[in-house]
Amino acid sequence: MGIPHACWCRCNQAKAAVALAVSCSFCNLAFSLSCLIERVHRLLVHQSNQRTLISILRSKDQLFLASYMAEAMMKQVNGGLAEKFGPVFDPTAVVAEPVPPVVTENGHELKHKTAEKEIVLGKNVHASCFSVTEPEADDEFTGDKEAYMAGVLARYRKTLMERTKHHLGYPYNLDFDYGALAQLQHFSINNLGDPFIESNYGVHSRQFEVGVLDWFARLWELENNEYWGYITNCGTEGNLHGILVGREVFPDGILYASRESHYSVFKAARMYRMECVKVDCLISGEIDCAGFKAKLLQNKDKPAIINVNIGTTVKGAVDDLDLVIQTLEESGFTQDRFYIHCDGALFGLMMPFVKKAPKVSFKKPIGSVSVSGHKFVGCPMPCGVQITRMEHINVLSSNVEYLASRDATIMGSRNGHAPIFLWYTLNRKGYKGFQKEVQKCLRNAHYLKDRLLDAGISAMLNELSSTVVFERPQDEEFVRRWQLACQGNIAHVVVMPNVTIDKLDDFLNELIDNRSTWYEDGKRQPPCIAADIGSENCVCAAHK
Ligand SMILES: Cc1ncc(COP(=O)(O)O)c(C=O)c1O
Repeated sequence: MGIPHACWCRCNQAKAAVALAVSCSFCNLAFSLSCLIERVHRLLVHQSNQRTLISILRSKDQLFLASYMAEAMMKQVNGGLAEKFGPVFDPTAVVAEPVPPVVTENGHELKHKTAEKEIVLGKNVHASCFSVTEPEADDEFTGDKEAYMAGVLARYRKTLMERTKHHLGYPYNLDFDYGALAQLQHFSINNLGDPFIESNYGVHSRQFEVGVLDWFARLWELENNEYWGYITNCGTEGNLHGILVGREVFPDGILYASRESHYSVFKAARMYRMECVKVDCLISGEIDCAGFKAKLLQNKDKPAIINVNIGTTVKGAVDDLDLVIQTLEESGFTQDRFYIHCDGALFGLMMPFVKKAPKVSFKKPIGSVSVSGHKFVGCPMPCGVQITRMEHINVLSSNVEYLASRDATIMGSRNGHAPIFLWYTLNRKGYKGFQKEVQKCLRNAHYLKDRLLDAGISAMLNELSSTVVFERPQDEEFVRRWQLACQGNIAHVVVMPNVTIDKLDDFLNELIDNRSTWYEDGKRQPPCIAADIGSENCVCAAHK
């Protein structure tokens, strides 16, 4: 039995979508009510379903009911297989009590956990987790556990919708529709090994992965037969890989990175036990090439491995790649004595579409570029793209007989769904679509910065960036509500394609309203953030 296609709503919540479609504001297609009624009828034929449904109906929780229905329908569809084949092994052969009881500090089993918020560094906090509990012996009959889980998921979905609505601080594009890919969630797609060498595991998506890699190689001007790359699990993995390639090319090289580089760069240095030299930044957050030159000259005897930021995490500053190369050359480093990794986690895909931006291109002497797939691109799961030169990858690789493939990646198993999401969105938007989105983000970022300054709030926006840096709000509750990223006295909003003028207005109105109460009695003053954003952008009492 299959579910008629017309009954599926097209929002990307897969199973839950079937049931929620009746009231789902995301859906384009109306759910067929007669079909729902028919399915309710079928479900009620089973006594266990009747009992659970009655208890849910008593609770009058419609969302809960809807989710339960969706789960039950999916079970009907998918469960047939299990029934057909029956048990595959003797159940008496397994351990009778496989799971030990949960014991807390005072020795009692923990049944319900409170949702109190607690932030304690160095201590794991379990207060708000959904604990995993063993099903009751009669659960198959009562279906209570199923109903409980459906309820938890339905409520969690509501939370996600609310949190998505109030998100501004992290560089994630939350505007997407991957409904068409819901059909693939039943497959364990894994691209373990090298994207260009098929392993023995056949449930993979290499054909999508290579298509995506070709697209990025073209964007960064490297011919298909000259590049190697793979879809990573995130921007961090891209940095770990790029810096590892640099280290393999120059085993005694020194890693240079600006202080405002992402922490993953310094993590790579620690992991690979590399000597790492931190370089100071300009107020904008861009690497200070005068300081860089001084450090290079102190270490002329060792090759240089450089992390170049195509958009820093906090200020969205873009290092001047051409100036970095020029500095290397002026300091006596010829191209066979340096390796450049470009960390383009966020702006790697925005920069090519910004007119005045320095170009990231393999026509220049760079070794690798990485970008996150869940940031500007808008993939719903963390992922990234890593591209390097083919000539470098052989240094890193070894053959693995068990895989019937080559090992040149950081991770072993690799998410095979991610390349399909990337492929889907690249096909839909194309270069032109991304260009439009970049323009919109830059426009909206300017709007936000101007309105902040008009309201007397210190703010800075780097020329090539959509990251607006401003005075840290004084109320942590407000920071959490809008999920702002903060560092010291500054906070930032990263304007992504899903951040509209309406959303920015809501945020600004709330901020301005709240702010008037934070500083109302005159006892507290807005902080001076000139040291972070420059005195020309600071409108504190001293710099007005
Ligand atoms: C500049 C930069 N590099 C690397 C990363 C790490 O990316 P990911 O979170 O995808 O691991 C980030 C994340 O924000 C970043 O801003």
